[in-house]
Amino acid sequence: MKFFIDTANLEQIKEAQDLGILDGVTTNPSLMAKEGISGNEAINAHYSAICEIVDGDISAEVLSTTYEEMIKEGEELAAIHPNIVVKIPMIKDGIKALKYFTDKGIKTNCTLIFSAGQALLAAKAGATYVSPFLGRLDDISVDGLNLINEIRTIFDNYGYPTQILAASIRHSMHIIDCAKLGADVITSPLAPILSLLNHPLTDKGLAQFIEDSKKMK
Ligand code: E4P
Repeated sequence: MKFFIDTANLEQIKEAQDLGILDGVTTNPSLMAKEGISGNEAINAHYSAICEIVDGDISAEVLSTTYEEMIKEGEELAAIHPNIVVKIPMIKDGIKALKYFTDKGIKTNCTLIFSAGQALLAAKAGATYVSPFLGRLDDISVDGLNLINEIRTIFDNYGYPTQILAASIRHSMHIIDCAKLGADVITSPLAPILSLLNHPLTDKGLAQFIEDSKKMK
């Protein structure tokens, strides 16, 4: 399973990259705005900076919602770096745009997926990734993991190459459950990734080893 970090914060991206386990980055307009990035020049420069840190797929989301504008914007984003993946919202014009970029050999990530039917349409259009939002489904008391399971079954039934990029991860159990269900990728904020490190018996065991090691010196 691939690990992407879901942030536009360069320090956190560097920290995850330094761990040596990072395969890519996802961003969205909310995450970019949180970092105070605005205006075309600053947006493009920020994506370039991310591409300098991580050698993997970097999702950059279009801000427009019509077919023509998404094509124009997506082509500009894709021109920033070969690792840029054009992130397209799950709307009617988005499906058409996915097909356009697929035919041009440009990688895509279809975002805001909340149903198996939406994932199926995106796969039919040739999306490289679909991003089902687990946490936001859980937030409204709908089982987000069940959606991952449904999409896995459908993609496996027909051998769709579209990768399931489990998004809106809230905690480390989401990551473990996605791995069990066969998600191809998880994209997570830094904290849930780091919390995979933790176990009280590891802390207790290490403290004991450090104590006993003093007897060996
Ligand atoms: C996915 O690509 C999105 O950027 C993200 O995972 C959404 O997560 P949130 O629900 O925590 O905002």
